[in-house]
Amino acid sequence: MKHSAVAAIAAASALFPAANAYWLMGAKNFITTERIDPVVNPGEVSGHTHSVVGGSNFGFNVTTEKLLKSECTSVPIVEDNSNYWFPHLYFQWSNGSFSSVDGGAVIYYLFDDKPGTTKAFPPNFRMLSGNPASRTYDQKSFEQQAVTFLCLDFQNAIGGTTKHNSIPKQQCPDGIRAQINFQSCWDGKNLDSSDHKSHVAYRSEGPDAGSCKDPKFPVTLPRIFLEVYWGTHAFRGLESEAKDSKQPFVFANGDPTGYGYHADFFNGWQPGVLQRAVDECHCNPYGDPTCCAEKGIFTLEKEKKCFITKSVDEQTTGMLRELPGNNPVQPEGVKAAMLKPTSTPGILSPVYVYRDESKPSAPGKLITSPSNAGATKPTLPPVQVGIVVSTSSALASTSSSSSAASTTSSSSSAPASNATGRAKSCSKANSTLSRRRHHARRGIHHGFDSNAF
Ligand SMILES: *[C@@H]1O[C@H](CO)[C@@H](O)[C@H](O)[C@H]1NC(C)=O
Ligand SMILES: *[C@@H]1O[C@H](CO)[C@@H](O)[C@H](O)[C@H]1NC(C)=O
Ligand SMILES: *[C@@H]1O[C@H](CO)[C@@H](O)[C@H](O)[C@H]1NC(C)=O
Ligand SMILES: *[C@@H]1O[C@H](CO)[C@@H](O)[C@H](O)[C@H]1NC(C)=O
Repeated sequence: MKHSAVAAIAAASALFPAANAYWLMGAKNFITTERIDPVVNPGEVSGHTHSVVGGSNFGFNVTTEKLLKSECTSVPIVEDNSNYWFPHLYFQWSNGSFSSVDGGAVIYYLFDDKPGTTKAFPPNFRMLSGNPASRTYDQKSFEQQAVTFLCLDFQNAIGGTTKHNSIPKQQCPDGIRAQINFQSCWDGKNLDSSDHKSHVAYRSEGPDAGSCKDPKFPVTLPRIFLEVYWGTHAFRGLESEAKDSKQPFVFANGDPTGYGYHADFFNGWQPGVLQRAVDECHCNPYGDPTCCAEKGIFTLEKEKKCFITKSVDEQTTGMLRELPGNNPVQPEGVKAAMLKPTSTPGILSPVYVYRDESKPSAPGKLITSPSNAGATKPTLPPVQVGIVVSTSSALASTSSSSSAASTTSSSSSAPASNATGRAKSCSKANSTLSRRRHHARRGIHHGFDSNAF
């Protein structure tokens, strides 16, 4: 029952124009949750916390070449070492503290049915969709139309789930799905631009309709549609303990509206694979890429997860007194001020890569101490490119603690880089809440099972 309901939702939300072939892939996990954004803030600690999926060579500075040397990727297509990232979501308690919400991502690639029409992203191509400072909705703006939220209700497959332009101001029985379309028309020249948007454009009729008619943006790119499921229903019944009982959730950029939702992409596709995929991967009408893997277009690996240890020495999940960075909650009505952080956390190095079976006992060593200066330029680790420390040789075995993430802590976050902090943040967890979270997560995973490939 639940499964078919989920499938129905997936089908209902996947009514893309018939001219578009597509595949969808459920990310196995977030590789990390920290203040890094190599598109907007290369080489420094970013303004707010992102959760990240994709290639394990994500970091302060990335290039396609570097991403291609990733030891693993958290998306099921092995040849896709791209990174996709977005602000993390939190529940805000009445005393102002925040609890992180667990989540998971599904990525759609949509492209023209006619081979040769859609052009794969070039090396080092990157872009940003959405505006973190937005706190109002302009229905004429394609950028804002690109962002939508589903209030998920799997029990009532017909009419239960509703679509919103903001974080839904109502209880969502099965969580919230934040959705964003990336731009899919390109100027054909620039791999990036100063605002990370001007080199690309949405389609002629909006983010998911029309074509690339504007002569300034003549090149049709694959359209990336990113869905992030947030297990907000784990907090059901706790609304009265929230700062805003009507809508208790806040994105990492201090956004309780959702109008400031955004996501970044950095291309890490193995050369040739994406082009072949958009030309030849048309074999399943429901977006299951298995048949494309069978044709040898790419390789699917659906089981093994992929994680990295933190570079920024700062707690980002569990219970937090404030949002990491300087991100006061700024309500609907005015454009939010993007404030400079007042201090900089320490920087850890090296970054360890691990699959679900081998979790390191600790992150890298502190190589830059935290400072109160507010300068966000860290001393970057020396040459990280291609140097991946294998967890099996370099790290102590932690078989007993490696299952900890499956209980109260976020299944979507980086490893427990600080066991003390993690234990502390969990110790106050209300047992009802923990139980619900557990169920919530199971629910989310059920969702993935039936809804993404
Ligand atoms: C990272 O990017 C920043 C900004 O573009 C640049 O100044 C810095 O030199 C880069 N660092 C490395 C290690 O590539
Ligand atoms: C804020 O409230 C939550 C929920 O009651 C509690 O767990 C947390 O410890 C409180 N934080 C502070 C700093 O008092
Ligand atoms: C835990 O949460 C439930 C549901 O909101 C509530 O009824 C109960 O009183 C809470 N228990 C504690 C110890 O806070
Ligand atoms: C770990 O977290 C605790 C609590 O947040 C903090 O007091 C402690 O300094 C942290 N230790 C390290 C090594 O970061």
